[in-house]
Amino acid sequence: MEIVKTVIELQSYLKGFREKKNSIGLVPTMGALHRGHLTLVKQAKEHCSVVVASIFVNPTQFNNPNDLQRYPRDLKKDCDLLETEGCDVVFAPDVTEVYPEKDERIFDFGDLENVMEGKYRPGHFNGVAQVVSRLFELVRPDKAFFGLKDFQQLAIVREMVSQLNFSVDIIPCETVRESDGLAMSSRNMLLTNQQRKNAPVIAKTLFESCNFASGKTVKETIDYVVSQVNEVEGLEVEYFDIADGYSLKAIDKWNESEYIVGCIAVFAGEIRLIDNVIYKNTGHEC
Ligand code: PAF
Repeated sequence: MEIVKTVIELQSYLKGFREKKNSIGLVPTMGALHRGHLTLVKQAKEHCSVVVASIFVNPTQFNNPNDLQRYPRDLKKDCDLLETEGCDVVFAPDVTEVYPEKDERIFDFGDLENVMEGKYRPGHFNGVAQVVSRLFELVRPDKAFFGLKDFQQLAIVREMVSQLNFSVDIIPCETVRESDGLAMSSRNMLLTNQQRKNAPVIAKTLFESCNFASGKTVKETIDYVVSQVNEVEGLEVEYFDIADGYSLKAIDKWNESEYIVGCIAVFAGEIRLIDNVIYKNTGHEC
């Protein structure tokens, strides 16, 4: 596996593959890799001839400087994990490689960015769009792989691809969970033992809410999820929205959409965890 830090090295590595028309897969990450990321690499290996994993803690998507500062970083460990998964090249650039000049672009994603993560983390998705579009320009992947845990991010990336006319297939990958249900996240390693013990309540409640929802209103289901999670000491729901899975617009009634998602953000102390559950997908109840 190659580890490259500069755009020049990256592009000279990829040139040969591109000339031979080998398909290139990109797995964008911010490092602190876990099994969820490795599953993305595995899927990329299945779909593409050469797999690039980028490791870059993108400063423009952090609206909270403490969050950026305490974001876990361990390049050596990440590269070892990627190598075992058969990744071909790791692109681990410095900030100046990705942003030789300050990125002043302001994207307009309409209502997609005014809800949920977009509402509580202003500027976050603009930063995500900046970095993902830069990575797409530099790597020019045929396919890029994103986890469904970041449900709204996936919707934003798809919208960005359509607005900027990138010819890249966006491949969504299922959320990977710990054995107790907790969605894998780089932030999980920042939890105290007690917070880690409490955190699976989030996924458990989301899954239970699928049964609870039958015969109940959307509002009752929201209240149920929020109260079940908040009941656990040390957990505090920031938002829980039930929305159309495409537009992310909140729904009032279950028959308003054929694709319905519930998205949650919860604070465990200072650590913010997100997760989601699909209530309905083109007629198939969860
Ligand atoms: O999901 C993430 O880890 C990041 O938002 C991404 C897509 C790598 C962009 O920095």
